Amino acid sequence: MAFQMSKLAARVWLLGSFGVTSSAGNRCPTHLGLISRLAHRSFRALKAPPSPGLLRKADKWEKVSTASKSLHRRSGGAVKLAGAVGLSAGALASLSTSTSARPELNLHSESSDWTEAKKKLCSMDKEKRREMYRIDFIPLEKIPVWSPSGDRSCTPRYKANEELNKKISLFSGDITKLEIDAVANAANKTLLGGGGVDGAIHRGAGPLLRKECATLNGCETGEAKITGAYGLPAKYVIHTVGPIVHDSVGDREEQALRNCYYNCLHTATKNHLRTVAFPCISTGVYGYPPDQAVHVALRTVREYLEQNHDKLDRVIFCVFLKSDKELYETMLPAYFPQGSPPKSKL
Ligand code: APR
Repeated sequence: MAFQMSKLAARVWLLGSFGVTSSAGNRCPTHLGLISRLAHRSFRALKAPPSPGLLRKADKWEKVSTASKSLHRRSGGAVKLAGAVGLSAGALASLSTSTSARPELNLHSESSDWTEAKKKLCSMDKEKRREMYRIDFIPLEKIPVWSPSGDRSCTPRYKANEELNKKISLFSGDITKLEIDAVANAANKTLLGGGGVDGAIHRGAGPLLRKECATLNGCETGEAKITGAYGLPAKYVIHTVGPIVHDSVGDREEQALRNCYYNCLHTATKNHLRTVAFPCISTGVYGYPPDQAVHVALRTVREYLEQNHDKLDRVIFCVFLKSDKELYETMLPAYFPQGSPPKSKL
């Protein structure tokens, strides 16, 4: 074994001095790294550089066997390096599975470990994360800040505050496409997925979302719980359970819906997240009348922003139905009124 190691070490020494690189002209860091680590370990056993005999062999090392040529093409040159140090194609194959080719992060496999996947995703920069998305995404810069249409028919319920207005967006479309810090999910108490926006979020995120949700022991109405977002462009999902309205909206239902928006915002700022999107919570399957829910949503967000404006950069109201879009366009000026137009100088 020691003899084998010293031969290998000697070859690496020669490789280093001949500067053997992959056909792409760049070193194969993984194989070179592993081989040189092996070499250094056995070099300590070696007292002198390799014998002249090995030097004569150096010119032969460049001959890449036919068997490894195809692997060479596929491996981008790793085989040339391996051939030069006398590693067979088979050895390379086993080497590559045991070193650099750590299985890619598979966000859509039931068997993946969600804790590992979540940690890896959190450590990735945006460019790297974008390679993981399976769906097309909408970056924050493509989501315009809301600007009132100028219609002043709506009676303002709050003072104009341009700084707060700049933190609001009205987005019409699929919340799963938003590349932001967190999307709120209108979930059910099990947190194990369902229909509507809950189903869309779980489909986009993949099976690891359900695996993490299964560890949260459900969620009570009005509460909020945060998870990773996995296959979604968003970084996190904040799950909340809206009230179910059977006949009419009472104080209990209104307070519960308010708690949904408040607790989602509080969970976001507690986790130092700065951009959050809300669907129209409870207005689908759960039957909360949209023309009443819109007031709870806008009032809660307005009052939260007044107390925490430094903690959030953008709150996005994500509407899916045309009727909801029209409702928000009508009511937003009441909760986020524009400043009075500049007095004409004339
Ligand atoms: N993006 C944004 N909004 C969406 C999307 C989407 N991809 N899909 C649906 N919506 C909108 C609906 O149009 C509705 O306005 O989300 C709003 C909330 O509707 P639901 O998803 O039905 O949520 P909710 O009324 O709170 O009922 C929750 O329904 O899906 C199940 O598991 C869920 O049991 C829970 C219940």
